[in-house]
Amino acid sequence: MRHLLDTQTLSRADALRILDVAEDMADTQQREVKKLPTLRGKTVVNLFFEDSTRTRISFEAAAKRLSADVINFSAKGSSVSKGESLQDTAQTLQAMGADAVVIRHGASGAPRTLATSGWITAGVVNAGDGTHEHPTQALLDAFTMRKRRFGTESRGRDLAGMKVTIVGDVLHSRVARSNVWLLNTLGADVTLVAPPTLVPQDVSGWPVRVVYDLDEAIAAGPDAIMMLRIQLERMNAAYFPTEREYSRRWGLDARRMGMLLTDTMVLHPGPMNRGLEISADAADSPRSTVLEQVANGVSVRMAVLYLLLAGERAHGGDESEDVL
Ligand code: CP
Repeated sequence: MRHLLDTQTLSRADALRILDVAEDMADTQQREVKKLPTLRGKTVVNLFFEDSTRTRISFEAAAKRLSADVINFSAKGSSVSKGESLQDTAQTLQAMGADAVVIRHGASGAPRTLATSGWITAGVVNAGDGTHEHPTQALLDAFTMRKRRFGTESRGRDLAGMKVTIVGDVLHSRVARSNVWLLNTLGADVTLVAPPTLVPQDVSGWPVRVVYDLDEAIAAGPDAIMMLRIQLERMNAAYFPTEREYSRRWGLDARRMGMLLTDTMVLHPGPMNRGLEISADAADSPRSTVLEQVANGVSVRMAVLYLLLAGERAHGGDESEDVL
């Protein structure tokens, strides 16, 4: 595995391999000494052109727990603000000895450009690009669903037959796109629920059912419901009803929590707009997996960095599998 750029082209075998290695990593995090020597001598660069809390910190924690050296780069305060290009920024980091580059960028496709341009030799991990994909978020979401469903019997299992409903601002959501592809690969049935103005035009080519009424979707008895953040910063008045209207028609509140099955999982990738797409009752309920998702994110990112930087050697994998 050279790069992790998306879930649309991630095979079932590779997805399960990442999830199973993440199980091993999660086991190591239960030990008194959490740190493993596996990536000693390797350098991981976190190259973030957009804000992040969870993803950046969790990649940093993952790399450090594998004993890699970590360089954190934020576009704010760097020479990017003086107009330095992605190519020159990346080549500067390469010259400093980066073995892996974790990139978040506002432009869809920036991680692929970095991975395929020949500018750098480091492995590239997409940490969110524009409205395109956020593959490690989808992997940690799948890991969380599998863990809640199968517990200690999770290894080797997919999500066949699970009904997953994704609700909200699908139009702007890279999390939704990565989840749609990965959940489909793992055998889950996916339903999208959104206001008509927040459904992407190309959705007819996606392996999903689309409905506009959240109560109707909840009545179908999903095993998991994933609330998306309303991306107010990307919103234009043409897309969005008022916040009050949105929350009434598409928000997960106490009434709708009461309509869900008792064991339906409630996911949210964070950061949450409490009181808009999800009420405090729902976010903090025992059915909410929000903090489990954050914790599992470290294990999943440890697995990805391990497979990128040591896994092929350790597992005797096929180096021809260049871009996942
Ligand atoms: N879920 C997610 O990507 O959160 P951050 O923007 O805080 O990284």
